Amino acid sequence: VAELPERLSAGPLVLRRWAADDAEALSSAVLDSVNHLRPWMPWAAAEPIGLPARSALIDQWLLDWDAGTDHIYGMWAGDAAVGGCGLHARLRGNGLEIGYWVHAGRLRRGYATAAAAALATAAFEAAHVDFVEIRHDRANAVSGRVPAALGFTRLGEEPRERQAPAEIGVTVVWRMRRETWLARDRQQRTTS
Ligand SMILES: CC(C)(COP(=O)(O)OP(=O)(O)OC[C@H]1O[C@@H](n2cnc3c(N)ncnc32)[C@H](O)[C@@H]1OP(=O)(O)O)[C@@H](O)C(=O)NCCC(=O)NCCS
Repeated sequence: VAELPERLSAGPLVLRRWAADDAEALSSAVLDSVNHLRPWMPWAAAEPIGLPARSALIDQWLLDWDAGTDHIYGMWAGDAAVGGCGLHARLRGNGLEIGYWVHAGRLRRGYATAAAAALATAAFEAAHVDFVEIRHDRANAVSGRVPAALGFTRLGEEPRERQAPAEIGVTVVWRMRRETWLARDRQQRTTS
């Protein structure tokens, strides 16, 4: 994946590539949110992890970023880490998958939607991909509200092994194509 910016503006948030210094902020956001993350995020099964393990995780994300496989950003509202999101190069074809989670104390403020919109713009403008997708388990209807709100097309469903406790093992696939998104961005710029 070509150069994605390390910092993106996303409505009320800034998305920033995680840095070694962020380990404590990330830890407190995750630990505050564990009960809310565990049903849906496979990695939450390992929580709570200590600060050294958190730092090692960030180190790995930095390597993944440089390798072009995963671009993992922190969501920041001022000085507070309020979630995580990313662009993942794991789809077939010239596309990236958007992922997100939000701090349990910061839900329903539009953060996930703002982050996903900024990541889509970055993917199309900086990484020159043809499409982005958001994928979630069918039982995670709240996650599906994000691509629906952004005008993604619901492509369909695929069976997938359950990876987190609340999943039923059916992935819903939502896609946004490059031309559609950029045309929409252009229109918003001319009408605002
Ligand atoms: C899914 C998640 C990221 C949404 O974050 P969020 O910042 O609260 O989402 P937003 O505020 O941007 O809301 C997005 C939409 O979901 C709706 N929504 C959010 N929480 C909801 C809830 N508990 N019940 C019903 N609708 C909800 C919002 O109303 C909005 O829909 P709208 O635009 O049609 O009004 C968050 O719930 C989360 O972290 N869940 C656990 C981790 C997870 O499931 N990640 C995704 C894995 S695929």
